[in-house]
Amino acid sequence: MGVLDIKTIPDKVLRVKAKEVENINGEIAKLAKDMLDTMYEAPGIGLAAPQVGRSLRLIVFDIWHTEEKPNPHILINPVITAKEGEELGEEGCLSVPGIRAEVKRSFAVEVKGYDLNEREVVLQADGLLARVIQHEIDHLDGILFIDRLSKIKRELIKKRIKRNIK
Ligand code: NI
Repeated sequence: MGVLDIKTIPDKVLRVKAKEVENINGEIAKLAKDMLDTMYEAPGIGLAAPQVGRSLRLIVFDIWHTEEKPNPHILINPVITAKEGEELGEEGCLSVPGIRAEVKRSFAVEVKGYDLNEREVVLQADGLLARVIQHEIDHLDGILFIDRLSKIKRELIKKRIKRNIK
């Protein structure tokens, strides 16, 4: 098992646009598996490579806590190809400890990417799974869930974060 260190704000790696994975090799496979270990250990339901200090377009997720058994997903170079509806739901983030807030997201998404065998994967998701996918893909663009709040809420949370960091 390879549990990695989770980067938290204000670490700069969380604010960089991550690079596409060019070769799906053993190194990427190991990183993806270590990210799953790290996510389950945390515990969390999603993790993006920048959160473990690797600026690459790679995400893992599993909403295991709502399902009967673990169902780990690994998506490389994920792109949202369709979205539908809107829903408000509470989110937190392993990189923003101690903060939870309601975020507006698309209710359903279709996402395309690659698995570790270089096969193209198309996934349709709604509800919590769609939310996790959108949250993790945001990480690949240097966006945190707190950026998606209203200005007033964002200011309040920024103050709270400053106090927590001190
Ligand atoms: Ni997050």
